[in-house]
Amino acid sequence: MSEQTTVNDVPVPVPVLDSDGFLAGMAGDVSAYYEEIRAIGDVVFEPQTGAYLVSSHDLVRQMAKGDGTDFNPTSVYDERFRPMGLDREEYEAVYGCKRYPITIGGQEHKMQHRWWTQALSVRVLASWANDYIRPVAHSQIDRFIDAGHAELRADYADRVGPRVIAAILGLPWDDDELIAELVDIGDAQVEFMTYTGVAAPPEVVERATRRIAEGRQLLLPYVRERESGEGTDFISLVWRDAKQIFGEDFDYTELDVAAIAQASAAAGTDTTSATTASGLYLLLNNPGLADRLRAMGPEGIQVFVEEALRLQGPVQFLARRALRDVELGDVTIPDGSLVLAMMTAANRDPRHYGCPVDIDMDRERPRDHFAFYGGPRVCPGQGLARIQLEHIFGAILERIDDLRLDATKPAPEYKGFGARRWTPLHATFGARVA
Ligand code: HEM
Repeated sequence: MSEQTTVNDVPVPVPVLDSDGFLAGMAGDVSAYYEEIRAIGDVVFEPQTGAYLVSSHDLVRQMAKGDGTDFNPTSVYDERFRPMGLDREEYEAVYGCKRYPITIGGQEHKMQHRWWTQALSVRVLASWANDYIRPVAHSQIDRFIDAGHAELRADYADRVGPRVIAAILGLPWDDDELIAELVDIGDAQVEFMTYTGVAAPPEVVERATRRIAEGRQLLLPYVRERESGEGTDFISLVWRDAKQIFGEDFDYTELDVAAIAQASAAAGTDTTSATTASGLYLLLNNPGLADRLRAMGPEGIQVFVEEALRLQGPVQFLARRALRDVELGDVTIPDGSLVLAMMTAANRDPRHYGCPVDIDMDRERPRDHFAFYGGPRVCPGQGLARIQLEHIFGAILERIDDLRLDATKPAPEYKGFGARRWTPLHATFGARVA
């Protein structure tokens, strides 16, 4: 920690992190970086990003609850702090919909968020699990099971995530070209969102605007097909409940419906693929865990999913702007400050969790973590994500035995900025006899 109390002559009310910088910290062994932050304080100032980093469980919870009053995501349009340095028109053009979920706040956001949560009901999720998730997961295992070895990130995690969400949208999930296109469009969006809180380079803005618009066009034929709203897929639900999603006063078009479908593909693809890869890594590195999960049955897999999310959730931090002076612990964060909720650091806070860095299948409240954040902007796809992951890992446990890292191949590394995951995952295994 540096002794300074000012940065560029601006007084900073908390300890200043004097490391190689946020980008270097997040590029390397994040666990070490998180402990470095924690050792200095629950709230520290990071000069490279000009942001306050919040790493304690209690303060991240307070931040999440304060969304909309104390803080706003940097993705919500605000004249004071233009997202990615864009004016409103340019920013809205990137997402092509004035009611795109991550860009709206206030009543519009509340209404739409409520819709997501209610529409993805337990009954709907159970039918999607049966009709879409399970068949996709098993079809991907069929492709490699007889070989006895695979690179499970490319051969399973990266294939199953986008195909599951495509199936739920009602798209032909076995169309490899379509899936590759959707993944690339999602990547363009994630790249753009990486510039949260700072000005994005024009070529990044241009690519995101163009590719997200192409994503809407790609989805348009499926959107038109479902206009009756009578199907059981996600796009049909959007048509059916469009007034609830967009508001009575909003004259929505088929392109707005396509934008919500595109948003769900973007939000639910890489996050699921990354969590799948990280969960597989945990299985590969904890001998005996797969057998224990099989013995515990579906409840065991549910707890395992939560532990994978807690320890290695793909979204490691979120960026917020303080909407006023905000008291966090014993410091006052000045109005307008950029604040990063360091969720994975908070998920390992030793003051909150016993054996914080280990998998604990007996945790009393396994869902008590911030992989989906919390408060009014908590991920509304969390129920869907959970059921996807349960079936994605369930299929592996059902079909595969004796899963081991292939020591003759390159070892996995923990990589990625937008969505972090372990890669590559070279593994050997046997097929389980039914
Ligand atoms: C493991 C998988 C997933 C993880 C870890 C995850 C995580 C998150 C997080 C941390 C946020 C909060 C972002 C913020 O406020 O800045 C979020 C928001 C969101 N997520 Fe997820 N998510 C996952 C899967 C999904 C799925 C499957 C869907 C839907 C198909 C989805 C839809 C959304 C939407 C629409 C938002 C924006 C909500 C809002 O601003 O109110 N997510 N997600």
